[in-house]
Amino acid sequence: MVTGETGKRLWQMALPVSVSALCLFGLLCCKGATTTHYDGEGATAKPTAKKVSAPVAMEEETGLLSNRDCVKCHSQVTSVIAAKGESHKTEVTCQDCHDGHPPEIKEVIPKCSQCHSGASHYELKGCLTCHSNPHTPLSISLADNLTAPCLTCHEEQKPQLVEFVSAHSDLDCTNCHQEKHGMVPSCLDCHDEGHSPEMVQADCSNCHQAHKPLAVGYNDDLASKQCASCHTVAFDLLMASTTKHHDVSCATCHKKEHKMVPKCQDCHGEPHPASITAKFPTCGSCHNIAHDLNK
Ligand code: HEC
Ligand code: HEC
Ligand code: HEC
Ligand code: HEC
Ligand code: HEC
Ligand code: HEC
Ligand code: HEC
Ligand code: HEC
Ligand code: HEC
Ligand code: HEC
Ligand code: HEC
Ligand code: HEC
Repeated sequence: MVTGETGKRLWQMALPVSVSALCLFGLLCCKGATTTHYDGEGATAKPTAKKVSAPVAMEEETGLLSNRDCVKCHSQVTSVIAAKGESHKTEVTCQDCHDGHPPEIKEVIPKCSQCHSGASHYELKGCLTCHSNPHTPLSISLADNLTAPCLTCHEEQKPQLVEFVSAHSDLDCTNCHQEKHGMVPSCLDCHDEGHSPEMVQADCSNCHQAHKPLAVGYNDDLASKQCASCHTVAFDLLMASTTKHHDVSCATCHKKEHKMVPKCQDCHGEPHPASITAKFPTCGSCHNIAHDLNK
C-alpha cells in the first residue's frame, strides 16, 4: 500500500510531457520520440506527443531536473530499473523516490516507510538486507538464519513446527528455504538416503510433511513396497500368503496414520453366530494373524 504526501505530489508532476517540447529544450534527443526505451517516467511514460502542461514546461525552463534527465548521467541505474524495476518502474518515477539532487539537496535517499506502511511486514528492520537493491525490489537475497520475518506473511508453518515437535522444529525457515524466496528443498539435500535403496525423493512426501516430519501419514493407495523397507517380515508373510489378504495393501488395513492397527471386525463385522464368537472371542485363535491367515 502506498501512502504519504510525496506520492501524490509527484504523481501530479509526472504529467505527460511533450516529447517535442523536450527536444526544443535540448533535454532529449529527437530519436527518443519514436523509441520506447525506459526513461524513468514510470507507467505514465508514453512516446506519443501530448500538450505541454504549463507547470512542467516552467520547470524545464528554470533548469530543474525532470525524470527524463536522469538517464543522461545515470544510465546504468536507469537500465537496471527498465529491466527489473517491477512496480518501482511502473508505479513510481525516479523523483517520487529521489526528491531533489545533490549538492543543493543532500538527503535524497528515500525511506521505504514513505510509501510502505500499514502491514506487519513493513515494520521489519533493514528492508535492504533482503530487498538488496531498491531498483530491483523483487531481487531478494535471504540469509540462512531467518524465521521471524517470514512469519509476517506465512502463518501456517511455524505453528506446525511448534505443535509437532521434531528435530526440524529447531531449524530456521531459511536453513531449508535457502537464498532465493520460494525455493523448496529436497529432503535428500540433507538426508543421505531414504529407507531403502530404491526409494527416491518423490516418495518422501507419500509419508512425511516437512513441517511435521514425525507425524507420518499416507493415503490408502500407497504401495506396500514402501512400508516393506522397514517391515520386511510383515511384507514377506503377506506376499507369501495365498489368501485373499494377499491382495490387500498395508495402507488399506493400517489406515492413514503410522502404527494404526485395525480390528478384524472393522472390515468383517461379526461374520459368525454370536454363540461361536462368545466362546472364541479372538478371531486369531482360528484364523491366525492377518498377514498370514490360515488357509
Ligand atoms: C548531469 C548529470 C546528472 C543528472 C542529469 C542527474 N544526476 Fe544524479 N548524480 C550525478 C552525480 C555526478 C552524482 C554524484 C553526486 C555526489 O555524490 O555528490 C549524482 C548522485 C545521485 C544520487 C546519489 C545521491 C547520494 O546521496 O548518494 C541520486 C539518488 C541521484 N543522483 C539521482 C538522480 C536522479 C533521480 C536524477 C534525475 C531526476 C539525476 N540523478 C540526474 C549526476 C547527475
Ligand atoms: C522506489 C524508490 C526508488 C526509485 C523509484 C528509484 N530509486 Fe534510486 N535509489 C533508491 C534508494 C532507496 C537508494 C539507496 C540504495 C542504497 O542505499 O543501497 C537509491 C540509490 C540511487 C542512486 C545511488 C546509488 C546507485 O545505485 O548508483 C542513484 C544514482 C539512483 N538511485 C538513481 C535513480 C534513478 C535514475 C531512478 C529512476 C530511473 C531511481 N533511482 C529510481 C530508491 C529509488
Ligand atoms: C515513492 C514511493 C515508494 C518508495 C519510497 C518505495 N516504494 Fe516500494 N513500491 C511503491 C509502489 C507504488 C509499489 C507498487 C504497489 C505496492 O506493491 O504497494 C511498490 C512496490 C514494492 C515492492 C513489490 C514490487 C512488485 O513489483 O511486486 C517491493 C518489494 C517494494 N516496493 C519494496 C520497497 C523497498 C524495500 C523500499 C525502500 C528501499 C521501497 N519499496 C520504497 C512505492 C515506493
Ligand atoms: C527477511 C527478508 C525481508 C525483509 C527484511 C523485508 N522484506 Fe519485503 N519481502 C520479502 C519477501 C520474501 C517478499 C515476498 C516477495 C514475493 O512475493 O515474491 C517481500 C515482499 C515485499 C513487498 C511486496 C508486497 C507485499 O507486501 O507482498 C513489499 C512492498 C515489501 N516486501 C517491502 C518491504 C519493506 C518496506 C521492508 C522493510 C520495512 C521489507 N520489505 C523487509 C522479504 C523481506
Ligand atoms: C511479503 C510477504 C512474504 C514474505 C515476507 C515471505 N513470503 Fe514466502 N511467499 C509469499 C507469497 C505471496 C508466495 C507465493 C504464494 C504462495 O505460494 O503462498 C510465497 C511463496 C513461498 C514459498 C513457495 C511455496 C510453494 O508452494 O512453492 C516458500 C517456500 C516461501 N514462500 C518461503 C518463505 C520464507 C522461508 C520466507 C522468509 C525468508 C518468506 N517466504 C517470506 C509471500 C511472502
Ligand atoms: C526441514 C526443512 C524445512 C524447514 C525448517 C521449513 N520448511 Fe517450509 N517446506 C519444506 C519443504 C521440503 C516443503 C515442501 C512441502 C513438504 O515437503 O511438506 C516446504 C513447504 C513450504 C511452503 C509451501 C506451502 C506448504 O506449507 O507446503 C511454505 C510457504 C513454507 N514451507 C514456509 C516455511 C516457513 C515460513 C518456515 C519457517 C517457519 C519453514 N517453511 C520451515 C522444508 C522446510
Ligand atoms: C536443510 C536440511 C534438511 C532438510 C531439507 C530436511 N531435513 Fe529432515 N532433518 C534435518 C536435521 C538436521 C535433522 C536432525 C538430525 C538428523 O536426524 O539427521 C532432521 C531430522 C529429520 C527427521 C527425524 C526428526 C526427529 O525429531 O527425530 C525426519 C523424520 C526428517 N528429518 C525427515 C525429513 C523429510 C521427510 C524431509 C523432506 C520433506 C527433510 N527431513 C528435509 C535436516 C533437514
Ligand atoms: C512409507 C512411508 C515412508 C516413506 C515413503 C518415507 N518415510 Fe521416512 N519414515 C517413515 C516412518 C514410519 C519413520 C519412523 C517414524 C518413527 O520412528 O516413528 C520414518 C523416519 C524417517 C527419518 C528419521 C530417522 C530414521 O531413519 O528413522 C528420516 C530422516 C526419514 N524418515 C526421511 C525420509 C526420507 C528422506 C524419505 C524419502 C526418501 C522418507 N523418509 C520416506 C515413513 C516413511
Ligand atoms: C522408516 C521405517 C518405517 C517405515 C517406512 C514404516 N514403519 Fe511401521 N514401524 C516402524 C517402527 C520403528 C515401528 C515401531 C516398532 C516397534 O515398536 O517395535 C513401527 C511400527 C509399526 C506398526 C505397529 C504398531 C504396533 O502397535 O505394534 C504398524 C502397524 C506399522 N508400523 C505399519 C506400517 C505401515 C503400514 C507402513 C507403511 C505405510 C510402515 N509401518 C512404514 C518403522 C517404519
Ligand atoms: C481393512 C479391511 C480388513 C481387515 C482389517 C481384515 N480383513 Fe480380512 N479381508 C479383507 C478383504 C478385502 C478380504 C477379501 C474379501 C473378498 O474378496 O471377498 C478379506 C478376506 C478375509 C478372509 C477370507 C480369506 C480367503 O482367502 O478367503 C478371512 C478369513 C479374513 N479376511 C479374516 C480376517 C481376520 C481374521 C482379520 C483380523 C486379524 C481380518 N480379516 C482383517 C479385509 C480386511
Ligand atoms: C488385511 C489387513 C492387513 C494388511 C493387508 C496388513 N496388515 Fe499389518 N496388521 C493387521 C492386523 C489386524 C494386525 C494386528 C495383528 C493381527 O491380529 O494380525 C497387524 C499387525 C501389524 C504389525 C504389528 C505386528 C507385527 O506383525 O509386527 C505391523 C508392523 C504391520 N501389521 C505391518 C504391516 C505391513 C507393513 C503391511 C503390508 C506389507 C501390513 N501390515 C498389511 C492387518 C493388516
Ligand atoms: C472357532 C473358529 C473361528 C473363529 C473364532 C472365527 N472364525 Fe472366521 N471362520 C471360521 C471358519 C471355520 C470359517 C469358514 C471357512 C470356510 O468357509 O472356508 C470362517 C470364515 C471366515 C471368513 C470368510 C467368510 C467368507 O464368506 O468367505 C471371514 C471373513 C471370517 N471368518 C472372519 C472372522 C472374524 C472377523 C472373526 C473374529 C470376529 C472370526 N472369523 C472368528 C472359523 C472361525
